[in-house]
Amino acid sequence: MQDSDLEKIKNEANEEINNAGNQAELLFVRKKYLDNDGILGQFFKSLSQLPKERRGRTGMIANEVKKNLAAALEKKSEILAEVAVVSASDDFFDPTLPGICPKIGHLHPFTLLEREIAEIFGTMGFEIMESREIETEWYNFDALNVPKDHPARDAFDTLFLEDGSCLRPHTSPGQVRYMENHQPPLRIIVPGRCFRRDAVDASHMPNFYQVEGLMVDEDVSVANFKAVIDEFFKRFFNRSEGGAAEHIDNIRLRPSFFPFTEPSFEVDLRCVNCAGKGCSACKGTGWMEVMGAGMVHPCVLKNSGVDPDLWRGFAFGVGLDRLAMIKYKINDIRLFYGGDQRFLNQF
Ligand code: DAH
Repeated sequence: MQDSDLEKIKNEANEEINNAGNQAELLFVRKKYLDNDGILGQFFKSLSQLPKERRGRTGMIANEVKKNLAAALEKKSEILAEVAVVSASDDFFDPTLPGICPKIGHLHPFTLLEREIAEIFGTMGFEIMESREIETEWYNFDALNVPKDHPARDAFDTLFLEDGSCLRPHTSPGQVRYMENHQPPLRIIVPGRCFRRDAVDASHMPNFYQVEGLMVDEDVSVANFKAVIDEFFKRFFNRSEGGAAEHIDNIRLRPSFFPFTEPSFEVDLRCVNCAGKGCSACKGTGWMEVMGAGMVHPCVLKNSGVDPDLWRGFAFGVGLDRLAMIKYKINDIRLFYGGDQRFLNQF
């Protein structure tokens, strides 16, 4: 047993440590040299056979070699661990790493609100009807008592197509289409996309959404309308039982004009921001204008094949975009159409 043997062991071990390509190979080298029955282990055992005067010195050198090899093994292990992390990011597949969750997105706030509105009216016996986005002049205007030369047509900023049809500027033609095929009693809502030649600003888009409503029966009155709409807004803005505004009027009706209703009114909602005290959201009035409505004009019933001497009804139209802006306190309509996920993810 020579000191030079130790030198040889050290050199060979270092070379094998250098060549180890992964942790398993490195472990193999560690065992081969440092285990009790490994090469260095055997060397320590054989120390007892050395003459006493050499034993101490050789033992010291052997200990030194052992320490160096342990350090070299440790260092190499760290290097290999770093390499493993880097290569995991390209072709190395580590099945124990947590997976990457795919983004599945969610429904647009308008879709969510449309469903909520449908749910509320559904509990009051209203059916949902989907009408078409491209309409003829007849359904869009004439049948709704807006003849060709009527100034009310100007208010709609309609986008006409080459064949004379148009992109519907409101959901009201859905009323006529439904009544053509269904006799009263009837209750429907018609949610849908509408179009107008409007310039884009914080409260206008050329593409927007409305929800139309129609109830026709033998004895329908404005009182029925007020009850249904009051209940709708109470639920939509969570003002039902126990809410702050439970005991005060939720809506008010103001006389207005629409060719397809007589009488006609605008529906104002008690400001959701200040509950009627007056604030910047309601321009100090305590009320927010939210809806056009009225008692269905006899001409509209007649044009739709319903006998106005037997049936009466109310109708209304509400902007979904506007309701969404009020409910969520959004001051720019463009946010709903921008596709910015930071905005959309909040709903
Ligand atoms: N269609 C009207 C608009 O877009 C809203 C409207 C008002 C609808 C009165 C109605 C109604 O059904 O009765 O401005």
